[in-house]
Formats: sequence, structure tokens, C-alpha cells
Amino acid sequence: MRLNNNAMGVALVGAIASLPRVAAWGVAGHEIVATIAQIHLHPSTVEQLCAILPPYANCHLAPVAAWADKVRFHMPWSGPLHYVGGVGDHPSDHCDFGDDGWQGTPGHNVLGAVRNTTMWLEKGYEGAEEALKFLVHFIGDLHQPLHLTGRDRGGNSVKVRFDRRITNLHSVWDSRLIAKSLRTIPQNYTYPLPSRQIESALRGTIYDPYVRQIMYEGVLGRFRDAIDEWTVCPLPELSTRPYPLTEKLEQLPVRGGFFDAVRSSLSSWMRPRKPVEEAPPTDDEIICPHAWAAPMHQLNCDIIWPAELDDPNYQAQIATQGYLELDTPKYAGRIKDEWLVEELLAMGGIRLAATLNYLFAREETAVSPLYKLY
Ligand SMILES: *[C@@H]1O[C@H](CO)[C@@H](O)[C@H](O)[C@H]1NC(C)=O
Ligand SMILES: *[C@@H]1O[C@H](CO)[C@@H](O)[C@H](O)[C@H]1NC(C)=O
Repeated sequence: MRLNNNAMGVALVGAIASLPRVAAWGVAGHEIVATIAQIHLHPSTVEQLCAILPPYANCHLAPVAAWADKVRFHMPWSGPLHYVGGVGDHPSDHCDFGDDGWQGTPGHNVLGAVRNTTMWLEKGYEGAEEALKFLVHFIGDLHQPLHLTGRDRGGNSVKVRFDRRITNLHSVWDSRLIAKSLRTIPQNYTYPLPSRQIESALRGTIYDPYVRQIMYEGVLGRFRDAIDEWTVCPLPELSTRPYPLTEKLEQLPVRGGFFDAVRSSLSSWMRPRKPVEEAPPTDDEIICPHAWAAPMHQLNCDIIWPAELDDPNYQAQIATQGYLELDTPKYAGRIKDEWLVEELLAMGGIRLAATLNYLFAREETAVSPLYKLY
């Protein structure tokens, strides 16, 4: 029950936060993350976002959440920004999240992209709309664990079956598990919840009932006590690890000005920490994609990448029995029982909201990283 352990929040020893987990998503997954974020935005954050978002978005994050996937082909440079792969990483037998460096151009990955786009917005550079649309998407990708491994293109090249249909492991996590959940939501979530804050972020989509369920049974239920830890950045522990990233990222300006002001108003729930210089270049004390991603990456070895795929007899079995079926009690059933997908979606939404509130909430309202209803 790794999710439950997480939800209860392992006691924080020193400053390491307990285990976030997440994965990469199809359109619904990205929009669900964005909708959960929308629920937790401070009103003053929404005001600022309205000025940046395109008119069709109606001051809502979800309509732009899948934009980055649509432009991948016009903007080929942005492709590698959707994922990251550690050198030597090979789930399920060996999970290594960057201890030996990263595949591809240094810093040109989802961790660097979250840092770059938040910096872009914070500095108020030209092109805020593009940066915001990327950020909403990349924080979603960061929470799809298969976007955190380079093995077999994050599972895209690994054929499996789901409900007897041939698909691939990555698609199972991007969309099949979510689609299955959408088909099996208890009827009561088709009706509004008695919360204007939740209902006003819903837009009449097919996943509204799922968002209600994740909010009611997850954010307000089993995850409730872990939420504050999800938004913490546990720098000191990480600073002992080598972190080979680009000079480019190392040159990124350190936060200041408005951000410092917000930070000082938040100091009550921030923990003591070492100087920013010791953190991995993508991480600081407010926004830390590496620290958030590391425990989610580990899920690839713990549960996501089926060990059967590397069984020496598996190739021969494909000929007689077909590709490995994942819509089984042992796989999809366990993931559902542990609320793993829901936890990743909730975590992505909460962290996106916390990030945007840090960047945009007026100081006097920024007493907490989240606009909470509980
Ligand atoms: C950083 O983000 C901006 C805004 O979206 C983008 O134009 C730029 O190419 C990004 N740079 C890198 C190195 O990803
Ligand atoms: C909806 O129904 C489920 C069980 O079918 C129950 O666990 C849950 O508490 C109900 N939610 C609300 C908001 O009443």
C-alpha cells in the first residue's frame, strides 16, 4: 500500500519530504491535473492568470493543459522537455534517477523545463502565455512516472494488452487507467458537491465526476494529511548528491524581489534549509521538480513496470498467449486499490496550484501555498 503510506506522511526526519508519486498523461489526465490546480488557486492568482491565458481559456487552466502535446511537431525542440531519463535507469530491475547523469542534452528535459518556465513567468519575460501553457503541461508530465524513465521511450515501445486490446505500457498510464476509472465512478459524483470552490472549477466535462471523487475521497479524505508535505521542497538531503546539469541552468537567476516577499510571508510553514546554491540547479526551496519526481520515478520499479516483461520466457509466451494483459486484479486492480493514479493526479494539481500561487498570488493573500477548502 505505497499510496497509503504516502498519504499518511512519513514523519519528516531532517527536511526530506515523504514520497510524491506521479506520471505523464493524455488529454484527460492533463486537464484533470489542471482542474484540481484551478480549485486551489488563490483568487488573486486567477486574476493574474486571466491576463496571461488566451481568451478561449476563460481564465481556466484546463483548456491549455494539452497544448504542449499539440505543438510538439511544430516545435521539435520542445519534444525532450516532456520527459527525463537517468543514465543506466532500467525498471523494473534497476531504478536510477540521475545519479549517473541524464540522457540527452543536459538540462533539456522535464526537470529543466519546469525550472525554465517558472523562471520565465517570475521574471515577467515576453512570452508569458507560452511559458504558462508549457508549465501547466510539464507539471502534469512530471507526475506520470513513465515520463521519468528513458527505458524503451518511457514504455512507448513496450507492447502490452489492456482489456484484451493491444496497446503499450505508456498509453496504459497516459490514458487507459484513467479511462477505466471514468467508466466506473460511483453514480453520486454525477451530482454537484456542496462546494462552490470545487464546482466553479468544473466545466461540464466527462471527467467532472472523477475530479469530484478525487477531491472528496482523496484531497479531502485519504490524502488530507499529506497535502502540506506535497508542496515542500526537501533541499538539504538532495544537496549531497552530484547533479550533473547544464551550465545554462546553473546560470539561471536566483529568485528575488516579489518572490522574496512572498517567501517571507510563507516562512511559518517552510522548514529551515541550506542555501540555494547547494540544491540541484533545477530545485530551490519553493519549486523542486527533481525532489518531487524522485520518489515517483521509483514507482516504476515498485509497481509500474511489470517484472514479467523481462522474464526470460516472456518472448516465447507472446507467441502462444499474446502480450501481457494489464487489466487484471494483480495490476490495474492493485493500482486502483492503492489510489495510485488518483494520488498522482491530485499531487500534480496541488503542486501546480502551489507553484502558480507562489508566482502570482498577491502577497497579502499568500498565507499558504494553496487556497484550501478544508
Ligand atoms: C524556456 O521557456 C521559454 C518560454 O516558454 C521558451 O521560449 C524557451 O525556449 C525555454 N528554454 C529552454 C531552454 O527550454
Ligand atoms: C459516493 O458513493 C461512494 C460509494 O459508492 C461513497 O464512498 C462516497 O462517500 C459517496 N460520496 C459522496 C459525496 O456522498
